Amino acid sequence: DWTPGNVIADQVAAIRAQIGDARVICALSGGVDSAVAAALVQRAVGDQLTCVHVDHGLLREGEVEQIERDFVASTGVNLIIRDEKERFLSALAGVSDPETKRKIIGREFIRVFEDAQRDIVAEAGAHGEEVKFLVQGTLYPDVVESGGGEGAANIKSHHNVGGLPDDLQFELVEPLRTLFKDEVRAVGRELGVPEEIVSRQPFPGPGLGIRIVGEVTAERLETLRKADAIAREELTKAGLDDEIWQCPVVLLADVRSVGVQGDGRTYGHPIVLRPVSSEDAMTADWTRLPYDVLSIISTRITNEVSEVNRVVLDVTSKPPGTIEWE
Ligand code: XMP
Repeated sequence: DWTPGNVIADQVAAIRAQIGDARVICALSGGVDSAVAAALVQRAVGDQLTCVHVDHGLLREGEVEQIERDFVASTGVNLIIRDEKERFLSALAGVSDPETKRKIIGREFIRVFEDAQRDIVAEAGAHGEEVKFLVQGTLYPDVVESGGGEGAANIKSHHNVGGLPDDLQFELVEPLRTLFKDEVRAVGRELGVPEEIVSRQPFPGPGLGIRIVGEVTAERLETLRKADAIAREELTKAGLDDEIWQCPVVLLADVRSVGVQGDGRTYGHPIVLRPVSSEDAMTADWTRLPYDVLSIISTRITNEVSEVNRVVLDVTSKPPGTIEWE
């Protein structure tokens, strides 16, 4: 019988068998998957777990604060936040190809964990054991679409699956590997993970790095972050969060078009809104958002984000489009 309780019992036993009394670290992104994976591992091995949040500079507005506030407050888990913005920006400099970006982000991410591991061991002093295990919130669709499932093509290297370096020094713990998103949410609720986290919309591990079509720079991230915050705020205000699976906001950094703003000509960038409805992210349809909500978002973004002079709506289902643009 599939019940959240059974999944928890099975996974707790499996995690204990895998980890024993070793130390383990968990990549906490702030999303549903990593939060539920962390809660499961905490249930299984308690204080042997340290969570690490990598601030790669590719997050949306307010996300680091939210991790500290919601997750740590409710679980009391040990959390280390690493500010690695510069490292990721320089690793991504000059890179536009989507798969290359994904691989770089995945690689740097693991390197940060290796550094964190060294710090944790050093802090524990001479008696500190090695931290051999790394928890990731990989779901079944991530496995399939990264080419890990039977007969599946490699559509994208999801960074917690296909984008890992070959010389990985960790043994992975992936307790959600057989689950779909709605199942993960049910397990999270059963574990007492707060609703603000459990009901969050999906956000990809590589973050805004794969929502800038073109090279990732600090200025472009700032532009996208502002536009994304406006779109999210208005969708929430309109009460549409439950209707939408997720709504990527994408900056077409290599595209410019002519506009007229204030008294003059502009030559700015388009922002794409990509609202989708889905059951499991394997397929999706574009969400028919009310025109008045679209209108408010468009007006606000073009008024408040000076680099943007056009807002466009993506009306493609998956397939043929994927949810994210890269
Ligand atoms: P696509 O773009 O492949 O996205 O249709 C399907 C779902 O997966 C999310 N996504 C990711 N999640 N790491 C993640 O944790 C990734 O590298 C990644 N790439 C895409 C995407 O937001 C959507 O929910």
